Parts: sequence; structure tokens; C-alpha cells
Amino acid sequence: MKAYIETSGCQMNENDSERIIYLFEREGYNRTRDIEKSDLIILNTCTVRERAKNRLYGHIGNLKRLKSKNNDILICIGGCIAQNLKERIIEDFPFVDIVFGTHNIAELPDLIKRKIAGGKSICSVRDDGYDPDIFKVKREYDFKAYVPITIGCDNYCSYCIVPFVRGKERSIEKNKIIKNINMLACGGVIEVTLLGQNVNSYGKGLDDKCTFPQLLEEVSDIKKIRRIRFLTSHPKDFSKDITGIMKRRKNLAKHVHLPLQSGSNRILKKMNRLYSREDYLNIISNIKDNIPDCSITTDIIIGFPGEKREDFVKTLDMVKKVRFARAFTFIYSPREGTRAYKFKDCIPMKDKQKWFRELLDIQNMISLEENKKFIGHKFEVLVEGRSKKGTCMMEGRMENNTVVNFRGSAGLIGKILSVKITGAKSFYLMGKLD
Ligand code: 5AD
Ligand code: SF4
Repeated sequence: MKAYIETSGCQMNENDSERIIYLFEREGYNRTRDIEKSDLIILNTCTVRERAKNRLYGHIGNLKRLKSKNNDILICIGGCIAQNLKERIIEDFPFVDIVFGTHNIAELPDLIKRKIAGGKSICSVRDDGYDPDIFKVKREYDFKAYVPITIGCDNYCSYCIVPFVRGKERSIEKNKIIKNINMLACGGVIEVTLLGQNVNSYGKGLDDKCTFPQLLEEVSDIKKIRRIRFLTSHPKDFSKDITGIMKRRKNLAKHVHLPLQSGSNRILKKMNRLYSREDYLNIISNIKDNIPDCSITTDIIIGFPGEKREDFVKTLDMVKKVRFARAFTFIYSPREGTRAYKFKDCIPMKDKQKWFRELLDIQNMISLEENKKFIGHKFEVLVEGRSKKGTCMMEGRMENNTVVNFRGSAGLIGKILSVKITGAKSFYLMGKLD
């Protein structure tokens, strides 16, 4: 029996998919990358923006063809859209066999057995705070791994649906995390990415008290792990202790992803972000003063309800001041159930798109200028896989998370090698093995 899985959205979803793969392989399914040849199809979905949802709806529609060719195929929809829409998915697509929520992953084998035994489509969506078994994972890579440290989110940014589909924030016990990373290190993993919606608030509610900086320090003691990354930081909780540890500890990768969202204090307030542009700039100065070669990336939303040209100009100003290595930019997407959904939004989409392109042009130029500074220098690159840039080309990442393409062979995957940078584009570098 073959199983096909497709993942949309964030790293948390990618990690959930690794957990789903573990479960279906234990049930005797082999993973296939060919949807046409699969007996079990699982879509692990994202609902952070409306477009992701629309795309999924188109995709499920296409699955009807496979189902009508072979009625024994099982179609399962999981992830954040499933958590959000529940039975509505089955009402819209009666040929879907199983809908399972973000808290129900561990139940999937039982749901599959129940459905094979016969009967109606099943919708199983709980919201009582499932904690993933972080040890039961089939990893995509054997040299790098995601390690969730918090699940859910309590921040309720007014535009964001995540707290509604991922539940209240829970931290995973420190001992479990450390044990997991030690096991990974023994198995040959050299890079870990600690995951959470707001990693900086790690430790709230744990019996065995531990803060995020304390956790970082302990993870960093595991010397076999050469690179430790963490995602995502929230500016309201980003403390100077983190920069202190990043400066002292060699195995903490010099990269901070710090979503700005907006450069206007008025909009930040309406977004419920709980920091000002001045607070944000203070964090950036602290990072740049202590770790001059640290790269900073961000997320920005354009066209939040009530945003005016003058607010947008403040965002542009921040982009120019901070000079992000890279910015992930989004046009505001109203999500039903969030506070901002009810805010009056009078900005025409055409203006939002114009601002969006304006921001993109400036950011791309900054990314290119920053990347050009690496030309002629040598960096350690962790080789991750084949590059799409051509045959015999490999792709890897510098410590600061910049992607480098270079000529090499698949035998290099998983190794940290010295690469001399020979060329730069906005989103990646070209290099030559040293
Ligand atoms: N509209 C547009 N972008 C959004 N994001 C989250 N919710 C929305 C929304 N409703 C963006 C934020 C967040 C990133 C993961 O997605 O910038 O940091
Ligand atoms: Fe959404 Fe804000 Fe939580 Fe991030 S911190 S997941 S943007 S509510």
C-alpha cells in the first residue's frame, strides 16, 4: 500500500507531516511521491491566508477524478483548514474520507482503520491541546531536524487565525527536548531548528521552570549539534539574553527571523503586536552591535484595514533602516473569526498591490546589495540537496541562512564545507567549493 502526502504552509506543518509519515509507515504504508499511484492521499493544509484555502479547494476538486477511477483510495484532509472548517469540508466534498484536525494527528491510524471497515466519511477535530510525541517522527533529512518547543499561540494578533487553529500555547518539557536533541545528535543530525509561534515565550506553565534563553544554553551544550536555529521570534518577547547567548555560543546560527508586520505604530497597535517601531529598532541595534554578521529576516503585511499611505511609508522606512536580508511580504487577507475581520477596510486592492510591488522592489534591491557583500569571501555551507539551478549543481545554506548554489555531487549532502562566493542574486548566492 502506498501513501502520498502534500504539505502546505509553515515549518510546524512540515514537522506535523513528518509525524504523519511515521504513523502511516508504522501501519504498513510506503511513501510515494506519485499521487496517481497512491492508496492513501493526505493533504496537510494551511489557512493563514485565504489564497491557501482557495488553492486547496481547487486541489480537492481535482482529487475527485482519482476517486472516481478508484473508489478504494482514501482521501484525508488534515492541518489548519481541517481544524478551521471541520465538517464543512465533507459537506463541500462528500468524496473526502477523513478530515482530521491539528490536535488529532495521533488518531489518524485509527481513523483510517475505521474508514476502511466501512461507513460514512469521518470528521475528527478536537481542540483540547494535543501535545505531539516529538520522538515519533519520520524525518525528511538525516542531517537536520525540526524540534517543536511550543505548540499553539496566545498572542492573538488581530489578523491571525493561528491561535484559533493551533490552540493555546503549550511548552514541551525541557527534559524531553534535550533528550530528543541528544538522540538526534547521536543519529548524525548536525542542525536543529527549534520551532514555535513565539519561541521567546517558551517555558510558560511548565512545572520545571525554564526560559527560552536557558533552553538555548542547554541545547547549545550539545556540541555535536553544529547549528542551532529557532523560529519564530516575537519582538515583544525578544530579550537581550538571547543576543548575549548567540554572541557567546558558536553553535547558535547567526540568524534571527523577527516579524515586523508594520512600521507604523498606529497599525502595530491595531494589529495587537504590543511593541512600537522604536522597540523594534532597539532590538535590531542590540543584535547588530553584538553580532555584526547576524542576518535578520522578517514578515511584513501590506494593506491592513485602515492603513494609509503614510503608514505604508513608515514600513518602507523601517525596511530601509534595518536592511533585512530577506522579507516575506504578504497582502492582508481577512480571516473569519479574527478581530481584524470586522475592521473597516476601505483601501482598494489595486492600491495594496501597488504598495506591495513598491515594497518588493526596494527589498529585493536591499537583499541584492547585502548579498553582493559576500562575494569573494569564504563561508561554511551545509549542503542540503540538489539545486534547481542546473545539473551537477548543489544547494546549501550558510550559517546566516543564505542559500548558496555551487557545482558538486550528491555525495556532499549533509556535510559542512567551505565555499567561496562568486556571485549574488536577491534570493541566493553562487559559489565554488574551496
Ligand atoms: N493576512 C496576511 N498575512 C498574514 N500573516 C498571518 N496572518 C495573515 C493574514 N491574515 C503573515 C504574517 C505572519 C506570517 C506567517 O503570515 O506576516 O508572520
Ligand atoms: Fe499569529 Fe501573532 Fe501568534 Fe504569530 S504571534 S502565530 S502572527 S497570533
